[in-house]
This record gives sequence, C-alpha cells and structure tokens, in this order.
Amino acid sequence: MHLLVLGANGLLGSNVVQAGLEKGWTVSGTYHSTAPHFDIPLFELDIADSSTASEIIESADPDSVVNCAAMTDVDGCEEHPDRAHDVNAQAPGEMAAHCSQAECEFLQVSTDYVFDGKSRVSYSEGDSVNPVQVYGQSKLDGEKAVREAMSEALITRLSFVYGVHRGTDELTGFPAWVRDQLRAENEIPLFTDQHITPSRAGHTASTLLELIEAEASGTYNVACRSCVSPYEFGAAICDRMGAAKSLLEEGSQSDIERTATRPAHTCLDVTKTQDQLGRRQPTLSVDLEAISDWFDSESRPNDR
Ligand SMILES: NC(=O)c1ccc[n+]([C@@H]2O[C@H](COP(=O)([O-])OP(=O)(O)OC[C@H]3O[C@@H](n4cnc5c(N)ncnc54)[C@H](OP(=O)(O)O)[C@@H]3O)[C@@H](O)[C@H]2O)c1
Repeated sequence: MHLLVLGANGLLGSNVVQAGLEKGWTVSGTYHSTAPHFDIPLFELDIADSSTASEIIESADPDSVVNCAAMTDVDGCEEHPDRAHDVNAQAPGEMAAHCSQAECEFLQVSTDYVFDGKSRVSYSEGDSVNPVQVYGQSKLDGEKAVREAMSEALITRLSFVYGVHRGTDELTGFPAWVRDQLRAENEIPLFTDQHITPSRAGHTASTLLELIEAEASGTYNVACRSCVSPYEFGAAICDRMGAAKSLLEEGSQSDIERTATRPAHTCLDVTKTQDQLGRRQPTLSVDLEAISDWFDSESRPNDR
C-alpha cells in the first residue's frame, strides 16, 4: 500500500504518517508552511493550488490519499470565509477528482462542526447537518464536493482532536494546555455547557487506516466513546496526573467572546465504525492512558 498524506505536518497528519510507517506501508506526504521531520518523500503543497496537487498525485502515484490538510482555525475561517471555502471546500473536491482520474482511493477528514449542536443525543452519520459557523459550512461543502467528484470516497468526521504530534513528539491541544496550567498551579476555567467525544490523533490515525484496509466507503464518525464536557475532560486529566481538581473552575461558553459561534453538543455516535471494524472505540480514560507518559514527567518520551 502506498499512502499519500496531505497535511503531513498537522497533528492528525503526522499520526497518519506514523501509523502508515508502522504498518510497513510506503508513505509520502505534503506539507504547507513547515516540513515535518519524517524520512519520507515530502512535497510542498498549498492544497488550493489544484494544478500542483494534480502533478504531485500523478508523480507520487499512491494507492490511497488521506486529506488531513485544512484551515482548522475556526475564528480565522469566520474572518476569511473565501480562503476557508478555497481550502476546506473547493480543494478537497479537486483532490478527489484528481484521485478519481489517477484511480486511487480518497479519504477526506471532516468534523463534528457540520452539526448545529442542538441535539442532546450523540450524532449518527445520517443525522441532519446544519453548521453554525463558516468553518463547519466550509467543511460540509468539502464533503459534498468530494462526494460529487468520487461517490465512493471515504469521509470521516472527528471531534475535538488532541494528542502527540509525531513529528515533534510534543503533546498538543487541550490536554497539553490543561497539563501546563496544572503544573503552573493556575486556575483553569473549563466549559460545562459544551459536550464532545474527543478524538485522540494516534488512535484516530490507526482507525482511518483500518477503514481503508476494510475498503469502507461512505461517512464514518471516528471519536472516542465518552461524551464529555471540557470540564469533565479536565477532571480526567487531573485524575491521570494525580492532581487535585481544586484548580478547575466551572465556566460557560458565554463567558468568552469569540468571532465564530461554537455548537453546544457535538458528541458523535461511533456505532457504525465499531460495527465496520468489529471492535469498540476507546473510552477517554483508555485514550489518556495511552499518552500517560506525557502527563507523568516533563521529559519527552519517544516510545509512542
Ligand atoms: N482540531 C480539531 O479539534 C478537529 C476537530 C474535528 C475535525 N478536525 C479535522 O481534522 C483534520 C486534521 O486537523 P488537525 O487537528 O490535525 O489540524 P492541524 O494540526 O491544524 O493540521 C492542519 C494541517 O493543514 C495544513 N494546511 C492548512 N492550510 C493548508 C493549505 N492551504 N494547503 C495545505 N495544507 C494546509 C496545516 O499546515 P500549516 O500549519 O503549515 O498551514 C496543518 O499542517 C482537519 O480536516 C480538521 O478539519 C479537527
């Protein structure tokens, strides 16, 4: 299997590269502003540049392309909607069309933010979409563009991605921030009125590759099994670190002003993915256990 990872220097992309190499697959990648530290063929690419993308796919000649590249700054998308559309909507459609022509498989990574968050039960893949900000709309438009270009493409929706960046070996995202605040003994305001099913990048990457191996097509939710608020996520990190929860403060999304609206409840139901793969997705606790070394010491373990 030859995998081409678009956005190989992102959090998820670096984990997909690593997961592919661990499987013994041939892996190549593209990066945008900074090249990752992987000993694989790497190409510089702005995915909005369709002709260069086409040349790269043609010359790399992969069996499968995984698109982890995206404009992920939710407020930035609100401020630059045209750019968000170019990168998150138009480019994935063009990539899928190039793949269709080159006869390779295409996996598009999407988001729980295609939902408006008004449901109080976890979203299944077929539930009605209704994004409430430019980012979610651009990602939804990307899903549609990919489907139009390649009806059998694989689309995976993730929720609240965090984990260890495999190029730098650094813990990234929300848990790293909570860990650092706990170590500094700062008070940590955390929302109790938002709910997500956090997707650990390492496990998510291996799940994406399992879905490719299973020749899955259609839309799949890829997240952990635990639907939690950021406050509960923070409390689980305290438990993992053996830290007191006295520094955690209950907060509300309305406490802070942000450019883009965030949905309140975007937990994802992972039953379809579990049924497809014949195994269960991890709980949050199991996912945190897998990266426990990054909470236990200030040193950088290099064994995961
Ligand atoms: N983060 C989350 O909580 C979350 C939740 C649900 C779904 N997702 C989805 O998961 C996927 C991976 O996200 P992530 O968490 O790994 O984000 P990330 O770490 O921000 O990675 C995104 C990557 O895309 C690259 N990129 C941005 N604009 C590009 C362009 N025009 N051309 C080529 N590459 C470009 C970035 O490179 P530069 O930094 O060099 O620009 C970066 O390496 C995305 O599709 C995202 O929408 C993320």
